[in-house]
Amino acid sequence: MRKLIGFKKTRSAVFISGTGSNLKNLIKFSNKKNSPISIKLIISNNKKAKGLKYSNQYKIKKKILNFKNHKTAEKKILKILFKKKINFICLAGFMKILSKNFIKKFKGKIINIHPSLLPKYKGLNTHVRVIKNKEKFSGCTVHFVTSKLDAGKIIMQKKVKIAAKDSAFSLKKKILKKEHIIYPAAIRKILN
Ligand code: GAR
Repeated sequence: MRKLIGFKKTRSAVFISGTGSNLKNLIKFSNKKNSPISIKLIISNNKKAKGLKYSNQYKIKKKILNFKNHKTAEKKILKILFKKKINFICLAGFMKILSKNFIKKFKGKIINIHPSLLPKYKGLNTHVRVIKNKEKFSGCTVHFVTSKLDAGKIIMQKKVKIAAKDSAFSLKKKILKKEHIIYPAAIRKILN
């Protein structure tokens, strides 16, 4: 269908909290002619997030929210999402948990990337726990976001072999490279 003349890219927002390497990768992906998404907004809970620099670099509007009052922050986000007619959300290293109410408003339209082979190693400090447990493999997962943390339907996964010399740091780097491959691929899988 999308290959037909005049297809419209899905208006999307990316939520970040830190470095933003996935954000940068998704922006580059969205700028491809045949990409199914167009990134219209960057949301962050952290005004110091390094990834916010991509807002200026790629001329994408950003909005920074203080999550001290979670409910108010989400209300403000919803307002701007509706105003900008966003109908797809990619979480990319966004370290806040969205409420049930928020997720309900974008049912089936929020996806996340997590640095483990879900359902293993949900939550934080994934790489440290994986190394500590002497796992042979880890990886990354793109999944739909539901109100259960890191438990929504899996869209795509990529496995990574852990070497004896790997640290949490080297593993993180290895897995990030794979994240940059599967996040766009997962988006194509569900939106193409
Ligand atoms: C990525 O490894 C992502 O999988 C992880 O944070 C990192 C963000 O890197 N996300 C989570 O841990 C979510 N629970 P980035 O800012 O360079 O994209």
